[in-house]
Amino acid sequence: MVKPIGVIDSGVGGLTVVKEMLNMLPNESILYLGDDLRCPYGSRSSEEVRTFTIEMVTKLAEMDIKMLVIACNTATAVALDTIRHLFSFPVIGVIIPGARAAVANSRTKQIAVLGTARTIESRAYDEEILKQAPDAAVYPLACPDFVPIVESGQYKSISARVTIHETLKQLADKNFDTAILGCTHYPLLEGHIESCLPEHVQIISSAVETVRDVEKTLVQYGIQNEAKQAVNAVFYTTGPRESFEGIVKDWLELESPDVRKISLP
Ligand code: DGL
Repeated sequence: MVKPIGVIDSGVGGLTVVKEMLNMLPNESILYLGDDLRCPYGSRSSEEVRTFTIEMVTKLAEMDIKMLVIACNTATAVALDTIRHLFSFPVIGVIIPGARAAVANSRTKQIAVLGTARTIESRAYDEEILKQAPDAAVYPLACPDFVPIVESGQYKSISARVTIHETLKQLADKNFDTAILGCTHYPLLEGHIESCLPEHVQIISSAVETVRDVEKTLVQYGIQNEAKQAVNAVFYTTGPRESFEGIVKDWLELESPDVRKISLP
Protein backbone atom coordinates (compact mmCIF):
# COMPACT_ATOMS: atom_id res chain seq x y z
CA MET A 1 0.00 0.00 0.00
CA VAL A 2 1.12 3.56 -0.77
CA LYS A 3 2.14 5.47 2.35
CA PRO A 4 -1.18 6.98 3.45
CA ILE A 5 -2.45 10.43 4.40
CA GLY A 6 -3.99 10.43 7.88
CA VAL A 7 -7.32 12.19 8.43
CA ILE A 8 -8.85 12.72 11.88
CA ASP A 9 -12.11 14.01 13.27
CA SER A 10 -14.13 13.66 16.45
CA GLY A 11 -16.52 11.45 14.47
CA VAL A 12 -17.97 11.22 10.96
CA GLY A 13 -17.55 14.93 10.07
CA GLY A 14 -14.11 14.54 8.50
CA LEU A 15 -15.67 12.26 5.90
CA THR A 16 -16.82 15.48 4.19
CA VAL A 17 -13.13 16.24 3.60
CA VAL A 18 -12.38 12.62 2.59
CA LYS A 19 -15.14 12.87 -0.03
CA GLU A 20 -13.20 15.68 -1.73
CA MET A 21 -9.88 13.83 -1.28
CA LEU A 22 -11.28 10.80 -3.11
CA ASN A 23 -12.32 13.10 -5.99
CA MET A 24 -9.29 15.35 -6.13
CA LEU A 25 -6.46 13.01 -5.04
CA PRO A 26 -7.38 9.61 -6.48
CA ASN A 27 -3.75 8.41 -6.31
CA GLU A 28 -3.49 8.77 -2.54
CA SER A 29 -4.25 6.24 0.19
CA ILE A 30 -6.20 7.41 3.24
CA LEU A 31 -6.32 6.30 6.87
CA TYR A 32 -9.34 7.90 8.54
CA LEU A 33 -9.85 7.92 12.29
CA GLY A 34 -13.11 9.16 13.86
CA ASP A 35 -13.36 9.31 17.65
CA ASP A 36 -17.12 8.68 17.63
CA LEU A 37 -17.05 7.19 21.12
CA ARG A 38 -16.05 10.55 22.63
CA CYS A 39 -17.89 12.80 20.13
CA PRO A 40 -18.88 15.64 20.39
CA TYR A 41 -15.62 17.43 21.04
CA GLY A 42 -17.31 20.82 20.59
CA SER A 43 -18.72 20.90 24.12
CA ARG A 44 -15.53 19.63 25.80
CA SER A 45 -12.76 21.67 27.40
CA SER A 46 -9.77 22.74 25.32
CA GLU A 47 -7.56 20.51 27.46
CA GLU A 48 -9.67 17.42 26.70
CA VAL A 49 -9.83 18.19 22.98
CA ARG A 50 -6.05 18.63 22.89
CA THR A 51 -5.43 15.35 24.74
CA PHE A 52 -7.85 13.36 22.56
CA THR A 53 -6.37 14.87 19.40
CA ILE A 54 -2.85 13.89 20.43
CA GLU A 55 -4.10 10.33 21.11
CA MET A 56 -5.64 10.08 17.65
CA VAL A 57 -2.58 11.42 15.88
CA THR A 58 -0.26 9.14 17.86
CA LYS A 59 -2.32 6.15 16.72
CA LEU A 60 -2.07 7.18 13.06
CA ALA A 61 1.63 8.03 13.41
CA GLU A 62 2.19 4.42 14.52
CA MET A 63 0.63 3.38 11.20
CA ASP A 64 3.26 5.43 9.35
CA ILE A 65 1.24 8.21 7.72
CA LYS A 66 3.13 10.67 5.51
CA MET A 67 0.99 13.70 6.37
CA LEU A 68 -2.05 14.59 8.48
CA VAL A 69 -5.29 16.46 7.87
CA ILE A 70 -7.05 17.63 11.02
CA ALA A 71 -10.51 17.47 9.43
CA CYS A 72 -12.13 18.88 12.54
CA ASN A 73 -12.52 22.60 13.17
CA THR A 74 -12.67 22.15 16.93
CA ALA A 75 -9.40 20.19 17.04
CA THR A 76 -7.83 22.61 14.54
CA ALA A 77 -8.81 25.61 16.68
CA VAL A 78 -7.45 24.06 19.86
CA ALA A 79 -4.60 21.74 18.87
CA LEU A 80 -3.12 22.55 15.43
CA ASP A 81 0.01 24.23 16.82
CA THR A 82 0.56 21.47 19.42
CA ILE A 83 0.28 18.72 16.80
CA ARG A 84 2.67 20.53 14.44
CA HIS A 85 5.12 20.84 17.30
CA LEU A 86 4.88 17.17 18.37
CA PHE A 87 5.00 15.37 15.01
CA SER A 88 7.46 15.63 12.14
CA PHE A 89 5.08 15.07 9.19
CA PRO A 90 3.26 18.03 7.59
CA VAL A 91 -0.10 18.89 9.20
CA ILE A 92 -3.03 20.76 7.60
CA GLY A 93 -6.05 22.16 9.46
CA VAL A 94 -9.43 23.28 8.11
CA ILE A 95 -9.83 26.82 9.47
CA ILE A 96 -7.39 28.81 7.30
CA PRO A 97 -8.73 27.21 4.08
CA GLY A 98 -12.36 27.83 5.20
CA ALA A 99 -11.71 31.47 6.06
CA ARG A 100 -9.86 31.97 2.77
CA ALA A 101 -12.72 30.52 0.73
CA ALA A 102 -15.27 32.69 2.54
CA VAL A 103 -13.28 35.90 2.09
CA ALA A 104 -12.74 35.11 -1.60
CA ASN A 105 -16.44 34.43 -2.18
CA SER A 106 -18.06 37.18 -0.11
CA ARG A 107 -18.95 40.39 -1.92
CA THR A 108 -19.97 42.39 1.17
CA LYS A 109 -17.40 40.83 3.57
CA GLN A 110 -20.28 40.24 6.02
CA ILE A 111 -19.65 36.63 6.99
CA ALA A 112 -21.52 34.30 9.35
CA VAL A 113 -19.61 31.42 10.96
CA LEU A 114 -21.50 28.35 12.18
CA GLY A 115 -19.48 26.08 14.47
CA THR A 116 -19.28 24.14 17.70
CA ALA A 117 -19.24 26.00 21.01
CA ARG A 118 -15.49 25.39 21.39
CA THR A 119 -14.64 26.62 17.87
CA ILE A 120 -16.78 29.73 18.21
CA GLU A 121 -15.38 30.50 21.65
CA SER A 122 -11.81 30.16 20.34
CA ARG A 123 -12.48 33.01 17.84
CA ALA A 124 -10.11 31.22 15.43
CA TYR A 125 -12.35 32.02 12.43
CA ASP A 126 -12.89 35.65 13.46
CA GLU A 127 -9.14 36.18 13.73
CA GLU A 128 -8.33 34.44 10.46
CA ILE A 129 -11.07 36.27 8.50
CA LEU A 130 -10.00 39.64 9.89
CA LYS A 131 -6.37 38.86 9.10
CA GLN A 132 -7.34 38.25 5.47
CA ALA A 133 -9.96 41.05 5.24
CA PRO A 134 -9.56 43.66 8.01
CA ASP A 135 -12.78 45.43 6.98
CA ALA A 136 -14.92 42.27 7.32
CA ALA A 137 -17.77 41.83 9.81
CA VAL A 138 -18.02 38.37 11.36
CA TYR A 139 -21.19 36.92 12.90
CA PRO A 140 -20.26 33.76 14.85
CA LEU A 141 -22.96 31.33 15.98
CA ALA A 142 -22.49 28.21 18.11
CA CYS A 143 -24.78 25.38 16.96
CA PRO A 144 -24.36 22.73 19.69
CA ASP A 145 -27.33 20.61 18.54
CA PHE A 146 -26.06 19.98 15.00
CA VAL A 147 -23.29 17.39 15.59
CA PRO A 148 -25.51 14.98 17.62
CA ILE A 149 -28.02 15.02 14.73
CA VAL A 150 -25.30 13.93 12.29
CA GLU A 151 -23.67 11.36 14.58
CA SER A 152 -27.05 9.70 15.19
CA GLY A 153 -27.55 9.38 11.43
CA GLN A 154 -30.65 11.65 11.53
CA TYR A 155 -29.25 14.24 9.12
CA LYS A 156 -32.00 13.81 6.53
CA SER A 157 -34.89 13.96 9.03
CA ILE A 158 -37.62 16.59 9.35
CA SER A 159 -36.82 17.05 13.04
CA ALA A 160 -33.26 17.98 12.02
CA ARG A 161 -34.69 20.77 9.90
CA VAL A 162 -36.79 22.06 12.80
CA THR A 163 -33.73 22.20 15.09
CA ILE A 164 -31.65 23.92 12.41
CA HIS A 165 -34.39 26.46 11.73
CA GLU A 166 -34.68 27.29 15.45
CA THR A 167 -30.88 27.71 15.77
CA LEU A 168 -30.36 29.82 12.65
CA LYS A 169 -33.22 32.18 13.65
CA GLN A 170 -30.62 33.80 15.91
CA LEU A 171 -28.97 35.27 12.81
CA ALA A 172 -32.21 36.75 11.44
CA ASP A 173 -31.22 40.38 12.07
CA LYS A 174 -27.71 40.00 10.58
CA ASN A 175 -27.10 41.01 7.01
CA PHE A 176 -24.44 38.57 5.74
CA ASP A 177 -23.95 37.24 2.21
CA THR A 178 -21.76 34.22 3.11
CA ALA A 179 -22.01 31.53 5.79
CA ILE A 180 -19.11 29.24 6.66
CA LEU A 181 -19.89 25.68 7.71
CA GLY A 182 -17.24 25.89 10.43
CA CYS A 183 -17.65 22.27 11.50
CA THR A 184 -16.93 19.35 9.21
CA HIS A 185 -20.13 17.61 10.30
CA TYR A 186 -22.30 20.41 8.88
CA PRO A 187 -22.00 19.63 5.14
CA LEU A 188 -24.17 16.59 5.88
CA LEU A 189 -26.85 19.11 6.94
CA GLU A 190 -26.20 21.50 4.06
CA GLY A 191 -29.60 21.04 2.38
CA HIS A 192 -31.44 21.91 5.61
CA ILE A 193 -29.06 24.79 6.44
CA GLU A 194 -29.46 26.24 2.96
CA SER A 195 -33.25 26.12 3.19
CA CYS A 196 -33.17 27.95 6.57
CA LEU A 197 -30.98 30.87 5.38
CA PRO A 198 -31.93 33.71 2.98
CA GLU A 199 -31.63 32.65 -0.65
CA HIS A 200 -28.78 35.04 -1.52
CA VAL A 201 -26.47 33.60 1.17
CA GLN A 202 -23.58 31.52 -0.20
CA ILE A 203 -22.61 28.53 1.88
CA ILE A 204 -18.91 27.73 2.22
CA SER A 205 -17.55 24.38 3.26
CA SER A 206 -13.80 24.26 3.79
CA ALA A 207 -13.42 20.77 2.32
CA VAL A 208 -12.39 21.66 -1.26
CA GLU A 209 -10.01 24.45 -0.14
CA THR A 210 -8.48 22.13 2.44
CA VAL A 211 -7.80 19.45 -0.14
CA ARG A 212 -6.17 22.09 -2.38
CA ASP A 213 -3.81 22.79 0.54
CA VAL A 214 -3.17 19.05 0.92
CA GLU A 215 -2.30 18.86 -2.78
CA LYS A 216 0.12 21.82 -2.52
CA THR A 217 1.75 20.33 0.57
CA LEU A 218 2.26 16.93 -1.11
CA VAL A 219 4.04 18.67 -3.97
CA GLN A 220 6.02 20.98 -1.69
CA TYR A 221 7.37 18.02 0.30
CA GLY A 222 7.73 15.80 -2.78
CA ILE A 223 5.58 13.09 -1.16
CA GLN A 224 2.75 12.76 -3.67
CA ASN A 225 2.15 9.28 -5.03
CA GLU A 226 3.15 9.47 -8.65
CA ALA A 227 3.88 5.76 -8.97
CA LYS A 228 0.15 5.05 -9.29
CA GLN A 229 0.39 2.00 -7.09
CA ALA A 230 -2.87 0.54 -5.82
CA VAL A 231 -4.48 2.94 -3.37
CA ASN A 232 -6.59 2.14 -0.39
CA ALA A 233 -8.82 3.78 2.23
CA VAL A 234 -9.36 2.40 5.71
CA PHE A 235 -11.90 3.95 8.08
CA TYR A 236 -11.34 3.50 11.82
CA THR A 237 -13.89 4.42 14.47
CA THR A 238 -13.72 4.28 18.25
CA GLY A 239 -17.54 3.98 18.32
CA PRO A 240 -20.02 1.38 17.09
CA ARG A 241 -18.83 -0.02 13.75
CA GLU A 242 -22.23 -0.57 12.08
CA SER A 243 -23.63 2.97 12.39
CA PHE A 244 -20.28 4.45 11.33
CA GLU A 245 -20.16 2.13 8.32
CA GLY A 246 -23.71 3.17 7.37
CA ILE A 247 -22.67 6.83 7.19
CA VAL A 248 -19.42 6.02 5.29
CA LYS A 249 -21.44 4.10 2.69
CA ASP A 250 -24.15 6.73 2.38
CA TRP A 251 -21.94 9.83 2.31
CA LEU A 252 -19.01 8.48 0.28
CA GLU A 253 -21.16 6.26 -1.93
CA LEU A 254 -18.85 3.29 -1.37
CA GLU A 255 -20.32 -0.19 -1.62
CA SER A 256 -18.06 -2.08 0.76
CA PRO A 257 -15.70 0.30 2.57
CA ASP A 258 -12.99 -1.12 4.85
CA VAL A 259 -14.38 -0.04 8.25
CA ARG A 260 -12.66 -1.13 11.47
CA LYS A 261 -13.14 -0.58 15.16
CA ILE A 262 -10.19 0.82 17.11
CA SER A 263 -9.49 1.78 20.75
CA LEU A 264 -7.77 4.90 22.07
CA PRO A 265 -5.36 5.73 23.54
N1 DGL B 1 -16.44 17.89 13.21
C1 DGL B 1 -15.88 18.67 14.23
C2 DGL B 1 -15.63 20.08 13.83
O1 DGL B 1 -15.36 20.31 12.68
C3 DGL B 1 -16.28 18.50 15.66
C4 DGL B 1 -17.65 18.23 16.04
C5 DGL B 1 -17.72 17.88 17.52
O2 DGL B 1 -17.18 16.85 17.89
O3 DGL B 1 -18.32 18.66 18.28
O4 DGL B 1 -15.64 20.97 14.64
